Amino acid sequence: MGKKLFQNKYGYFTEDGREYVITSPKTPKPWANAISNGDYSTIISQTGGGFSWRTSATENRITRTFQDTIKDDWGKYIYIRDEATKDYWSATWKPVCKESDFYEVRHGIGYSVIKSRDNNIATTMKIFVVPDNPLEIWELEIENTDTKERQLNLFTYFEWALGDAPDINREFHKLFIDTKYNVKMNGLTAEKCMWSMENSRGQAGNTNWPYVAFHSCSETPIAYDTDKENFIGMYSSEEHPKAMDNSKLTCKTGRYGDAIGALQVTVNLEPGEKKKIVFTLGCADSMEHADYLANRYNNIDESENAFNEVNKMWDKYLNTENINTPDNGMNIMTNIWLKYQALSCRIWGRTGYYQVNGGYGFRDQLQDSLIYLENNPEGTKDRLRIHASQQKNDGSVTHWWRPISKKGQVSRCSDDFLWLPCITIAYLKETNDFDFMDEEITYLDGGEGSIYEHCKKSINRSFAMFSPRGIPLMGAHDWNDGLSGIGIDMKGESFWVGEFLYYILSDFISIAQEKEDKNFVEKCKDICELLRTNINKYGWDGKWYLQATQDNGEKVGAKYNEQGFIYLNPQIWAVISGIADNDRAKKCMDSVSKYLLKDYGALLLFPEYSTPDEKIGYITRYAPGLRENGGVYTHAATWAVRAYAMLGDADKAYEAYRKICPPNRSNDIDTYMGEPYVTPGNSDGPTSPYYGRGSWTWFTGSAQWLHRVAVQWILGIRPNYNELIIDPCIPKEWNGFTYTRKLQDDIYMIEVDNSAHVSKGVKEIIVDGVKVESNKIATFGDKKEHVVKVIMG
Ligand code: GLC
Repeated sequence: MGKKLFQNKYGYFTEDGREYVITSPKTPKPWANAISNGDYSTIISQTGGGFSWRTSATENRITRTFQDTIKDDWGKYIYIRDEATKDYWSATWKPVCKESDFYEVRHGIGYSVIKSRDNNIATTMKIFVVPDNPLEIWELEIENTDTKERQLNLFTYFEWALGDAPDINREFHKLFIDTKYNVKMNGLTAEKCMWSMENSRGQAGNTNWPYVAFHSCSETPIAYDTDKENFIGMYSSEEHPKAMDNSKLTCKTGRYGDAIGALQVTVNLEPGEKKKIVFTLGCADSMEHADYLANRYNNIDESENAFNEVNKMWDKYLNTENINTPDNGMNIMTNIWLKYQALSCRIWGRTGYYQVNGGYGFRDQLQDSLIYLENNPEGTKDRLRIHASQQKNDGSVTHWWRPISKKGQVSRCSDDFLWLPCITIAYLKETNDFDFMDEEITYLDGGEGSIYEHCKKSINRSFAMFSPRGIPLMGAHDWNDGLSGIGIDMKGESFWVGEFLYYILSDFISIAQEKEDKNFVEKCKDICELLRTNINKYGWDGKWYLQATQDNGEKVGAKYNEQGFIYLNPQIWAVISGIADNDRAKKCMDSVSKYLLKDYGALLLFPEYSTPDEKIGYITRYAPGLRENGGVYTHAATWAVRAYAMLGDADKAYEAYRKICPPNRSNDIDTYMGEPYVTPGNSDGPTSPYYGRGSWTWFTGSAQWLHRVAVQWILGIRPNYNELIIDPCIPKEWNGFTYTRKLQDDIYMIEVDNSAHVSKGVKEIIVDGVKVESNKIATFGDKKEHVVKVIMG
């Protein structure tokens, strides 16, 4: 058996980091796996709780849940009944909650495996989503470890939701579901003739749910049920369902029950005998499609093939970039889990246990899409196209939208549209694909323009939203959504937006030069100058930068404020953008170190708001220390790592990193409570009685950024159009590290030697045996492997 990494009392990483093994079902919170193929998705916790959806968890839910992360008792279950004794238990800990003789959950990349042993019956249930089709497979291996023959019955059970979720008017919604048993498929189908979407006449709630859900089995079921009352029994529970007292399910289907899916299968096993059974659950486009999918995957070989495809698919995303540093937590997270979290949960499934979403956020999924750059930059490019098409001619963008109804929210947020040029720049720096700038994309309100023009429209929109003294307006809010009361009269200002814009312009100027767009180059240069002057004039508060001013001119994030006197973002972005000179950069980061960098990473502000303040926004309505109100908001806390590294402060950069790198929280896991293999949206700040508790795990934009700050700012290796910059900023104790990555189809194998034990400074670089004169390597573009030896000193 391999080494157990970051072991705590609930689990550990396997030696290769590819699985997290949970050894007790009673983790402090549900520890989940969000599995998706980009269309069909499922989430499963260590107890067996979870649910499934296709395309959108709120518009097209397949199985029902009502969010309750304390009980974690909505799942898709398999009951196992001993026909001799009538004793029963479940393949996952929930819903029967028997103390098993053995219980282990392996959350892997694209799958979970739950092993259990009860009454001398060992089960291994593997759950995964087929790569290119809208279904999940539960592959159950069942083994008789007894000395006598065992006769068992298996019963699957879950509730159909079919469409809108949560279906709060369930008594109404259930009336439209129709279930059937399909002999050819060894299973059930479910349809629904009601959906909140608009029909062809633009009328909502008067249309069919256009899919067919199915649940089938590789064995022929001896019975089935589709009504919750039949299965659970009136006033009974999932823990003790009535179905377990009856020899057979009722075999009733139709329109008049409370729709569930349940199949009953007989399994007889000689001593030592094993058997595999496959169950499918999916959401097809039509009855024929359902028939095809169920029949195709209803067999062991096809299920095993599909599982191999899952592994191949993930290898493609994970293996093109690999770091090996003395920090195992950094290795595991960077190489494996952050990529998985960003792709599977954030971009594809867009839902976690703590946030059931399904929509696309304009800025959120654009940022997430940076995770594609090292393995498949086309992924980033596609997202840029999609988000550009959510822009109007005036430069404004849909703040978020739902993928099926296409409905969304337009807001006067002051930064969302700016992420389009920001991520475009990152894409260009990686790929040098300037042709993309000429690609035409339609505007939401008609007409089309090149990507370059789309970016310009974003920037021009920002230029048009300045206060009379030349600072960008806050509008509905900036990146910090909770600052929702500061600028709604379009007078309040955001210094952070000013810095963000400055950051974008600094790079966009050279792109505009490339396009020979002289007037715009001049305009950008002028605005840069204006921003540098004004932000340093009006935004500097002595030891740090202000966050904002309110509509009435009051300062926010100023030393005279009793609450929220310092905010993180304007300090770290003053450094990241380069708007602060060296002296101020150092001073404001010293203030970050003093007030914000605490035990579990950098707080978003200090001190927290303790009473609601309508003029600041809903951020003040959170309890002190929760989320944006003075907690560690992981997304922004990752940017602090970059700011410290840019100042060359390797110790602080690493400290700010280490404290938010989840495996490191295995040491105080009962304080942390969250999964040690994915980032949390936030962790509680010092005034919370749960200081250090990680929450809103999985569905957070921090995953991609934690990956990026590690490779680009701690390891310091980052592409810059047609060169690769090598500028490590590492703990001086490290002897070195290696980093292999694809770049424009070349492979760079970089070995950094730090036997000099410095934290910064490159003494020598040798590429394929030839010494280069600077720490910037010109890319080859020859699709070959290149060995880069770096000596620090
Ligand atoms: C949430 C939003 C994100 C926003 C952040 C800070 O994570 O999805 O867009 O920037 O909160 O408020």
